[in-house]
Amino acid sequence: MNTKNKIGDMPASSLLLPRLTKIQKEEGYLSEERLKELAKEISIPITRIYEVATFYSFITIDKKGKYVIRVCASPSCHINGSDDILEIFERLLEIKVGGTTKDNKFTLEKTSCIGCCDEAPAALINDEAYTKLNDEKIREILAKCK
Ligand code: FES
Repeated sequence: MNTKNKIGDMPASSLLLPRLTKIQKEEGYLSEERLKELAKEISIPITRIYEVATFYSFITIDKKGKYVIRVCASPSCHINGSDDILEIFERLLEIKVGGTTKDNKFTLEKTSCIGCCDEAPAALINDEAYTKLNDEKIREILAKCK
């Protein structure tokens, strides 16, 4: 039996996603340095780690803002004005979708359905969902982000 790439009885690859998620949560993104350390630690090729790290949209190898705003662009939110919501965020933050504010506080992205379709338009800010968004509500939310 091949014991390479195993930790205890578990294949090291089964630990990969939880480990990547943990690093993401702690540091906000997966730096090259951390990925190399992880590859060495669990004996998985760095290329495999990059495959996984770049597959999931909620894991990133790019440094992002303290608050990552993900505006849902799926059908229910689109019909209920997600394009307008994106424009409001862009205007208030003075960035475009995909961008990060100069102070590294906010990153603005689009995402697919976040499961709040009945309260569209919706967005996630880090792990928290915000629904029935409008200009006033967005201003209040941004003001609370410190
Ligand atoms: S379509 Fe936006 S939350 Fe489902």
